[in-house]
Amino acid sequence: MSLSQLPFSQSCENNKAPILAVLKQSFKTTRRVLEIGSGTGQHAVFFASHLPHLTWCPSDQPQFIEPLEMRIALQGGDNIAPPVTLDVTAPWPLTPGEVDGIFSANTLHIMSEAMVVDFFKGVERHLSNTGSLCVYGPFNYHNQYTSESNRQFDIWLKHRNIHSGIRDIEWITELAEAAGLNLQADYEMPANNRLLHFMR
Ligand SMILES: C[S@@+](CC[C@H](N)C(=O)[O-])C[C@H]1O[C@@H](n2cnc3c(N)ncnc32)[C@H](O)[C@@H]1O
Repeated sequence: MSLSQLPFSQSCENNKAPILAVLKQSFKTTRRVLEIGSGTGQHAVFFASHLPHLTWCPSDQPQFIEPLEMRIALQGGDNIAPPVTLDVTAPWPLTPGEVDGIFSANTLHIMSEAMVVDFFKGVERHLSNTGSLCVYGPFNYHNQYTSESNRQFDIWLKHRNIHSGIRDIEWITELAEAAGLNLQADYEMPANNRLLHFMR
C-alpha cells in the first residue's frame, strides 16, 4: 500500500507544527511518550522525527492498528515504536512507570465521560512519578464554549454519538489532580483548540 492510500487527516497537517512547538518545551526532558488514540499516525511520525531525544509509542483501538503500522513502515524513523492496541477501558499493555510522557490529541471529546475517567485512571497507574501529560483538542470553560464553531462541533459530535462532547477544562483538571497531576500550562492553539500540560 502507498502513502496516498492510507487514512489521512487534513486537521493533523494543519495542527502538527503548532503542537510540536509546545511539545518541544513540555517534553524537553521526556524519554518515552505513549500516544493514546494515534489515529492516522500522522502526528506520531511527525513528532517522533522532530523530537529525536525521545521514543514515541503510538497506540489505538484495534481497527486503527493496521494502517498505523503501514504509515510507520513507510514514514517512521528509528525512535518510533511499533503501535500497540490500547483501549483506555481495558488493561493497558504497559508496565507502571514505563513511560514518562503521555500525549493524546482530539480524543477526550470523542470518548464518553466514563472513558475519560478510565483515561485518567490509566494515566495515574502508568505515568512515571516525574511524568508529563499533554492533551490537545477543543475544551470548554465552566460549561461555556470558547467559540461558535466549537458549539456547532459539539452539536455535530453528539448527533453522531450522544456520549461524545467537548469537555470542561475544570472537570479534566479535577480528574488530573485526582490522578496526582497538576496543570502546568493551558496553551491557546489555532482553530479554538487548547493544549493542556499536566505534571506529576
Ligand atoms: C478524532 S480521532 C483523533 C485521532 C488523532 N489523535 C488526531 O488527532 O487526528 C479520535 C481517536 O480517539 C480514539 N479513541 C476513542 N475512544 C477510545 C478508547 N476508548 N480508547 C482509546 N482510544 C480511543 C479513536 O480510536 C481515534 O483514534
